[in-house]
Amino acid sequence: MKAARAVASPRVVCVEDFRPLARRRLPKAVFDYLDGGAEGEVTLRENRRAFEDVTFRPRHAVAVPQCDLRTRVLGFDLALPILLAPVGYSRLMHPGGEVAAARAAGAAGTAYILSTISGHRLEDVKAASSGPVFYQLYLMGGREAAEATLERARVAGFAALVLTIDTAVSGMRERDYRNGMKELISGSLLEKLPYLPQVFARPRWLVRFLLDGGLPHLPNVVIPGQGPMPLVDINAALARSTITWEDLGWIRKSWHGPIVIKGVLTGDDARRAVDEGAAAIVVSNHGGRQLDYLPATLRALPEVVTAVAGRTEVLMDGGVRRGTDVVKALCMGARAVLVGRAYAYGLAAAGEPGVARALEILRVDLERTLRLLGCGSVAELGRSYVGALGAVSQPERRP
Ligand code: GLV
Repeated sequence: MKAARAVASPRVVCVEDFRPLARRRLPKAVFDYLDGGAEGEVTLRENRRAFEDVTFRPRHAVAVPQCDLRTRVLGFDLALPILLAPVGYSRLMHPGGEVAAARAAGAAGTAYILSTISGHRLEDVKAASSGPVFYQLYLMGGREAAEATLERARVAGFAALVLTIDTAVSGMRERDYRNGMKELISGSLLEKLPYLPQVFARPRWLVRFLLDGGLPHLPNVVIPGQGPMPLVDINAALARSTITWEDLGWIRKSWHGPIVIKGVLTGDDARRAVDEGAAAIVVSNHGGRQLDYLPATLRALPEVVTAVAGRTEVLMDGGVRRGTDVVKALCMGARAVLVGRAYAYGLAAAGEPGVARALEILRVDLERTLRLLGCGSVAELGRSYVGALGAVSQPERRP
């Protein structure tokens, strides 16, 4: 009932409007995990700020009777150039978690990427969506566990594998330390005690969390001989998740479908990913959650697009909140964008209807932006529609 009110609320006009609703519903530790970034959160802010540095060059007095938002990613026809990024611990944000997000993505005609740090079984997530679902792999359970998961993902019908390459260790997420995220997730009762008041301050969330079973395990990280891995905090998870180019060898033996490399910010890494056979790359700084002072993804995008020279598909994530942001990323060479927080705030605020509403807001936004630009299709977007690139890095010059 409350969720329905949140979705229908006149206060939700843009996706950012879900943010205060999410803040009110979640314990501080969970909200900050979702909302926060690494260290001084410079990159987190910079992702948003970069969009503000780009203005449009419209074609006015042009009739746009139809607006085509469709695009093709890894051979899949998507109704809009917006995919749902992997978001860890989604089931802490709402019991519907990854299943709810995947179902909303499918209903919107787009793809969902499931994080390894998922509270729902990958088979259930795949079954919930009518659209393509990709699996994002962390190696936290070790190689054997990963191989078993890849086999499950293949049998379940996952369409692509996403490898995140920017997690040599976890970024320093200061909010998580202050809020006792580690203690709350994997500490003893004594260790949890000082941090429990923030949880009791959200009794509705707590009741739902307990009724949902309290999320003790990661059902898609099954350690041979031991069973599903107990829930661990993000530091412990990512410290054991480093993926190197060398790992691609054994991963390719277990996964014969397309591989997407996520976390590319330079021409060099982009060329390496192409040489390794990546079907797509994602220009990403992990939503400002890993190394602080990485450039905004919109600023890194031109160098990567130039380096790739059409040899693979280029996607981008980081700070996308509006249709105008999507259009800017596409003008600068991305085929599509990934959104994380933009749908996760909706998930936290209202479950599946919240995700659906966030995606609908973005769709309507995108269509309006195209019409105001005088452009009838996302496929026609390009550099000629944006100006004021002063603050955006120019494509790298190669000797
Ligand atoms: C997981 O990938 C996270 O960034 O928390």
